[in-house]
Amino acid sequence: MRAILQDLGASPEALISISEPNLAPDSVGDVHLELRAPTDALPAPELLLGKLSAEGLLLVSIPKATTSDPQLAELRNRLWPTFHVVAIYRTSGGKTKRSSMGGSVTLEQPASQEGCVLALRTREYIMSPAATVEKFDQNASGWNGEPGRPGYAHFRWMRRFMAVYADLPKTDGASVLDFGCGAGWVGIEAALKMKNPRLAFFDPSPEMVRISEENARENGIANATGRTGFGEAPPFPSEGEEAFDVVISSGVLSFSPDFDSWFDGLVMSVKPGGTLVIGDIYPDSRGFLKRRRTRPLLPVRELNGQTPEYARKRLEEHGFIWKRTSGYQLTYPIPEMMHVSQTKLGGALGIPLLIANKALAAIDRATGHSLASLFDSWVMHFERPA
Ligand SMILES: C[S@@+](CC[C@H](N)C(=O)[O-])C[C@H]1O[C@@H](n2cnc3c(N)ncnc32)[C@H](O)[C@@H]1O
Repeated sequence: MRAILQDLGASPEALISISEPNLAPDSVGDVHLELRAPTDALPAPELLLGKLSAEGLLLVSIPKATTSDPQLAELRNRLWPTFHVVAIYRTSGGKTKRSSMGGSVTLEQPASQEGCVLALRTREYIMSPAATVEKFDQNASGWNGEPGRPGYAHFRWMRRFMAVYADLPKTDGASVLDFGCGAGWVGIEAALKMKNPRLAFFDPSPEMVRISEENARENGIANATGRTGFGEAPPFPSEGEEAFDVVISSGVLSFSPDFDSWFDGLVMSVKPGGTLVIGDIYPDSRGFLKRRRTRPLLPVRELNGQTPEYARKRLEEHGFIWKRTSGYQLTYPIPEMMHVSQTKLGGALGIPLLIANKALAAIDRATGHSLASLFDSWVMHFERPA
């Protein structure tokens, strides 16, 4: 455990063993939970939270290093939504290997005790505003896509699909808001189809907003304004400003730590009589269900993602009128094939897979979302009553 604590920058003195019978009542720090097997009953989340400091780590240890990934995934699913696994350590033959979303490394420090340790943080900590800004500032250029790279045509097609999912206003000077804009492509694609549009976009990440401004400028959109902020308290419209004719939010809901406030923010940004397009990952697709069953390490959004039925209910509670739901982006094994195509085959399968994606998304749209389970993403169109 010492090597693992050192790797995590944690101190053995701050580690509280939850199974210790003489726990000091008011001590808080990092928490260690020892299980005999991954299927053991877990203490109540409140008990663990009561001992954890605000930025504390929960370490769950299991004596067998050979505990399988599906067993660990099942344990991770039981700890969600209070906790999320950020790293897994496996020690065997005196060596400890750390796996995280960033990859795997073997620690330098030797270790004697065989076994497996999951390192977890609270959902609240992982999805905190500061963590979100840091994560997306660091990955901003990755979300921009790179012209010429394999997969770029597919990346742009998905943004265009969202942008034109609802009929856009034909009037001169209508306004459009990209709600959680990333590199800005969904709002830009919509604005390119409108007459003298007023484009607004915001994102928690200042770097994303900067890239969106650059992309809007390079695409000749004269009237474009970016701000930083979160969907839970959106920076548009601010005091005295009008709400928008069209609001599009693509792939953002699953990053929200607080759905009540997020939907309140989304709703207030749409003008009475305005159009809303919202889309995100579909957690019940074949691919995402398989990943949650078999992989103990996943991006937090894959656990936090919501179904279109949930989003529709929330928006109908706010009086929005549902128009249509569709799927896009085919599920397992298509993303895996795209990955192989991009990393090993120089993009050879890119065009056929894009054609398959386009064709099935069009069939699903034409048949009232009859192919729901085939897609990793959903999109919906709503109107706000005038
Ligand atoms: C998957 S990217 C999608 C970007 C863009 N909408 C697109 O479709 O290309 C998610 C974006 O949501 C932003 N985001 C994360 N949490 C958010 C929140 N609570 N409110 C608004 N945006 C958020 C991130 O910074 C990131 O740029």
